Amino acid sequence: MSTQQKSFSSNLGAIMAAVGSAVGLGNIWRFPYTCGKYGGGAFLIVYVCFVFLIGSVLMMSEFIIGRRAQHTPVKAFSSLRPDKKGWWLIGLLGIVTSFFILAQYLVLSGWTTGYVWESLSGSLAALGTSAAPISDYFTQFSTGSWKPALYLVLFSVLVLIVILGGVQKGIENVSKILMPFLVFLILVLCVRSLTLPGAFKGVEYLFSPDFSKLTGEGILAALGQALFSLSVGMGVMIVYGSYIPLGDNIFKTAMWITVCDTLIAILAGLAIFPAVFSCGFDPAGGPGLVFCVLPNVFNSMGSAGVVFSTIFFLLLMVAALTSAISLLEALTATIGEHTGVRRAVGAFIFFFLGTLLGVIFSLSLGSLSHIKLAGLTLFDFVDKLNSIYLPPLCALGTVIFLGWVMPESDVRDEFSNHGNLGVRFYGMFRFIARYVAPIALLVVFVSGILS
Ligand code: PFF
Repeated sequence: MSTQQKSFSSNLGAIMAAVGSAVGLGNIWRFPYTCGKYGGGAFLIVYVCFVFLIGSVLMMSEFIIGRRAQHTPVKAFSSLRPDKKGWWLIGLLGIVTSFFILAQYLVLSGWTTGYVWESLSGSLAALGTSAAPISDYFTQFSTGSWKPALYLVLFSVLVLIVILGGVQKGIENVSKILMPFLVFLILVLCVRSLTLPGAFKGVEYLFSPDFSKLTGEGILAALGQALFSLSVGMGVMIVYGSYIPLGDNIFKTAMWITVCDTLIAILAGLAIFPAVFSCGFDPAGGPGLVFCVLPNVFNSMGSAGVVFSTIFFLLLMVAALTSAISLLEALTATIGEHTGVRRAVGAFIFFFLGTLLGVIFSLSLGSLSHIKLAGLTLFDFVDKLNSIYLPPLCALGTVIFLGWVMPESDVRDEFSNHGNLGVRFYGMFRFIARYVAPIALLVVFVSGILS
């Protein structure tokens, strides 16, 4: 385990790539509407606790497993405890989850790619400021056949190109450019949003806690969102962990990523809610908040609206791109390790399969909506699988493995870089990984099944 076959070039590169994975549609599309639904500030408090207490510990666990093993998930689990059979299944579960998430993620990413163009070309602006035409437009767009499929393919090709570039020249370099660009875009939008008349109401909504809306369901949603947002419970961070340079401090690296991811989710809230309130729209717009409510908000800003609307959807697309890259990378690296195929071949196989499944999921919202699994359309079925079942189960297996199965000396050794770093937080990390996280994840998983 002394040599690394592939790695990021520096700690900054590792952080940027992992922040790229973590910051995505989860932060800018899902977080604001979930926060709106479950009591604003009340949800935010619970979410932040989960992200730092459980999410970051999971991320450290995945990094430790990946870097220690120097393998992709399936082999990582089996190589760290070769005498204990069957743990590789957790790695496999992670990879299967990554594949389903990739396919579903491509559908949403295709919409955002499409909306960059619809916005730039003035089609969204032409819809005016009443709610019905804008939501009808979105329904027509997302349930159509060729348009969403075309944008989906376009987006997937971008993802493929980056993966073909390799770990350092592709993923790391693209993340180093796109992440600062994303922060710039989001700051521009925050300034615009916060300087609109009556913007303060939106800030209040985001930060002042309404505990009456924070139901048990809301608390579970906060944990699910924390896992999704940090990209843990899918094996992706195990793969990225195997690329972290051997001298890097895993605790600090995971903390940086967690802080950045959380700040960007909060900035997204600050870019969205003040503008929504200022223009008098409904902040609890659900999943349609971004596609149905925001175009309305932009259209009420006059001619500058087109600029801000384009910036917003571009921001969303950039965020989605670096996340989709990490999913395709996990799949590419895994198939490469198991079959020995060249990186380009592996990348192309999963690009093809992911895009194909993505198009099928997309069509299941329109022309294939009659096909049902467990009474749900294929898209809703995979959505349920990706949010309630697979990630919590995989995350649960991961922390149990790290806390109870992997030799403690290996965990400590990796956490402390072979004894070269202090272990001030090690006790807390281990306690959470052994007790707190498994219990919390078990509760989420069981209640997900029962709901
Ligand atoms: N963390 C990403 C987001 O917040 O949008 C989603 C994601 C990316 C989940 C990569 C899982 C993953 F492996």
